[in-house]
Amino acid sequence: MSREIGYAIVGLGVGKTHVKAAVRARGVKFVALCDLDQEVLNKVGDEHNIDPANRYTDFAAVLARPDIEVVSICTPSGLHADMAIQALKAGKHVLVEKPLDVTLGQIDKVVQAAEQSNRFLGCVFQNRLSPGNRKIKELVDSGRLGQLVTANFHVKWYRTDTYYANNGGWRGTWAMDGGGALMNQSVHTIDLMQWFMGPVKSVFAKTGTYNHNIECEDLGVALVTFENGAVGTLIGTTSAYPGLEVLVQIHGTTGAVYAKNSNIETWKLADDPDRTEEAEVLAQYKAGEKKSGGADPNAISTTGHAGQIQDMIFAVIEDRPPMIQGKEGRNAVEIILAIYESARTGKEVFLPLN
Ligand SMILES: NC(=O)c1ccc[n+]([C@@H]2O[C@H](COP(=O)([O-])OP(=O)(O)OC[C@H]3O[C@@H](n4cnc5c(N)ncnc54)[C@H](O)[C@@H]3O)[C@@H](O)[C@H]2O)c1
Repeated sequence: MSREIGYAIVGLGVGKTHVKAAVRARGVKFVALCDLDQEVLNKVGDEHNIDPANRYTDFAAVLARPDIEVVSICTPSGLHADMAIQALKAGKHVLVEKPLDVTLGQIDKVVQAAEQSNRFLGCVFQNRLSPGNRKIKELVDSGRLGQLVTANFHVKWYRTDTYYANNGGWRGTWAMDGGGALMNQSVHTIDLMQWFMGPVKSVFAKTGTYNHNIECEDLGVALVTFENGAVGTLIGTTSAYPGLEVLVQIHGTTGAVYAKNSNIETWKLADDPDRTEEAEVLAQYKAGEKKSGGADPNAISTTGHAGQIQDMIFAVIEDRPPMIQGKEGRNAVEIILAIYESARTGKEVFLPLN
């Protein structure tokens, strides 16, 4: 390793996953933690043997340390851009949890701050690293599915009232979560949707709040038209008891691929008539990912996070951009905001949003 860096994590909910990955990663000299909640700070610090001198309740104190080069921002979503901008201005490289922020104005500001400070900005979308999703991306990009016709992206999850009430009740609020089941839980699958299918041309949607006492939606359903002409569906909910899988189904004129929780279950291609490749792909990709956040947010797989955090560290050491750059975090948020506008107005909404 040419050199090692100081890595700080702010916000220790899902941030715990960043801590676990950073303490195990190559190229890390030390890990620093920051959380407003002293009890959480002590607990996570003790669990991972973090030097008490590297534990902070004050974010500004983290930013003042020149030996910290990368900061993971894992606070509630409505704080992301402001905190990331502070960190970039302090000369840090920044990895921000999804969504990058909850408005396009804030997202544009943080992307611009990264350009101006000449620092790297990454956005966590760990599902892009799962082997099944990488295989689907490769298939779609190869053109072997023919002309894309239709696709379904369904996140039928379940969250309890306690989940929304906990942690100060920021989840499901417009200000801090930017939305409900779509902006928080389904943003991963909406990112995959546009990563696989290409840009979205328009959405026609309905949203509703069925089972929780929250400001925002716990169900969103959209008819999605892609720029390539395909028309598909998106469903995102946290009210589908008991919380089932994430389904991805893509159909073209010469093939189809289905995945459940990032594991490939169907692989049908006109150019694989004896089904040799189908058998190989299913053997390799059908049972890869065992964990699912369908019913329990704590059961979300941590492998993708570890890969993205290691990539961020190597990006800084090798002086090259991270694998998922901050500006890519804009696409999913724009689609979600278009869905909200469509549900509000009852009209088909075309992208880009003004
Ligand atoms: N990639 C994923 O799969 C995934 C999973 C869960 C959450 N997330 C994202 O991570 C973010 C956090 O979500 P969460 O579920 O971990 O929330 P959480 O409420 O469990 O944790 C947030 C933590 O941030 C701390 N905090 C808040 N403001 C702070 C500040 N100004 N300075 C320091 N600490 C502060 C809180 O004390 C709390 O411990 C959200 O943006 C969410 O969308 C991503």
